[in-house]
Amino acid sequence: MESQYHKFYKSEPFYVLNQDVFYDEDIQDNQQTREYSDINFLRKFNNFIKAVLINKYIDRLPYKYSPSIFDLCSGKGGDLRKWILKKPSHYVALEYQEQLIKIAIERLREIRNVEFPSIFVVADAGDESMTIDKVLADDKFRDIKSSIVFDMVSCQFAMHYMFESEKKLRNFLHNVSCKLTPGGFFIGTTIDSDRIVSQMRLDTTGSMTVENEDFAIKFGQIAFPKDQGAFGLKYYFYLKDAIGKQKFLESEKVYVPEYLVIFPKLIEIAKEYDLELVEQKNFHEFYSESVQDANNQGLFNRMVFKEASQRMTQEGINRQFEICGSYQVFAFKKMGQVIKRMHNNFGNYRVCREINYRNFV
Ligand SMILES: C[S@@+](CC[C@H](N)C(=O)[O-])C[C@H]1O[C@@H](n2cnc3c(N)ncnc32)[C@H](O)[C@@H]1O
Repeated sequence: MESQYHKFYKSEPFYVLNQDVFYDEDIQDNQQTREYSDINFLRKFNNFIKAVLINKYIDRLPYKYSPSIFDLCSGKGGDLRKWILKKPSHYVALEYQEQLIKIAIERLREIRNVEFPSIFVVADAGDESMTIDKVLADDKFRDIKSSIVFDMVSCQFAMHYMFESEKKLRNFLHNVSCKLTPGGFFIGTTIDSDRIVSQMRLDTTGSMTVENEDFAIKFGQIAFPKDQGAFGLKYYFYLKDAIGKQKFLESEKVYVPEYLVIFPKLIEIAKEYDLELVEQKNFHEFYSESVQDANNQGLFNRMVFKEASQRMTQEGINRQFEICGSYQVFAFKKMGQVIKRMHNNFGNYRVCREINYRNFV
């Protein structure tokens, strides 16, 4: 087992400080919970959206070579297989729950023929003392620290945590941009605040909740906290799943607050980090547009439709499709002069690989 581990990783997973873990998810990772979840359609649909987004922006990179990936807030490594298909030159994941990083490492270990170096970091993406440039400046990475750059930074279903405060968002954007190469992309999925707020306005009961049988978004406040500008507007999110624990305001369970993402503010601040918006679309719109392409339609049939049509009622599918409309995709491009790097012919790629092999095998 140990030798396999080294074969697949080429490096020891690297743990930075484990910050206070302030929520305790039920951490289960087995085929059963993945396959028989009550929210199967939603999970598969979300995965489809992420896969299409990844494909789309990998194809738009300025040069064709093995891309280097930074998976921010990577969770249990739910996107590992999607990235592996892109034959990355290296893969770096950052996540602040150590238990989840361990599951991601386990998942990677289970996948055969993974040849690229990978680094797993336990750190808070919103903390300025442990941003990825600082982590990679650690002596452990002395040979690669100046050469590691990313072609893609991905943050899936997590940017809403960064809107707790402007400081947090800025530290997060520093993480995104500091090692992202010009011409590279920052892609992700997050809550579609405009849609949620407009749905909440339709509610005449005063409950400040958007919900259906499978999910709820419940606001504890309607105004932004004083002196915090576009930040800190908290809501509580519940999603029915196989584990079935509710994380509501009034629940005994410790919950994760999420925050409204004020997109115009994000666009404005992202410019300061040399990131320019190239796409922002609600999941429904992104889906409709994607399946115009026959390849994506085929992918959808394989990833979502076959499974959902066998196991779920049309009513259940409709309900979960509705929830998917609470999310949006986004893509930013890193500004600056694109430096030509080609497979087998550019410094960074070869240097990183050789050094990783030499130091970490
Ligand atoms: C909904 S999960 C998404 C996981 C993964 N990106 C995916 O799509 O499967 C959100 C993840 O963000 C992580 N997260 C939230 N705030 C974070 C922070 N400040 N720093 C690092 N990770 C964070 C959570 O621990 C959780 O694993």
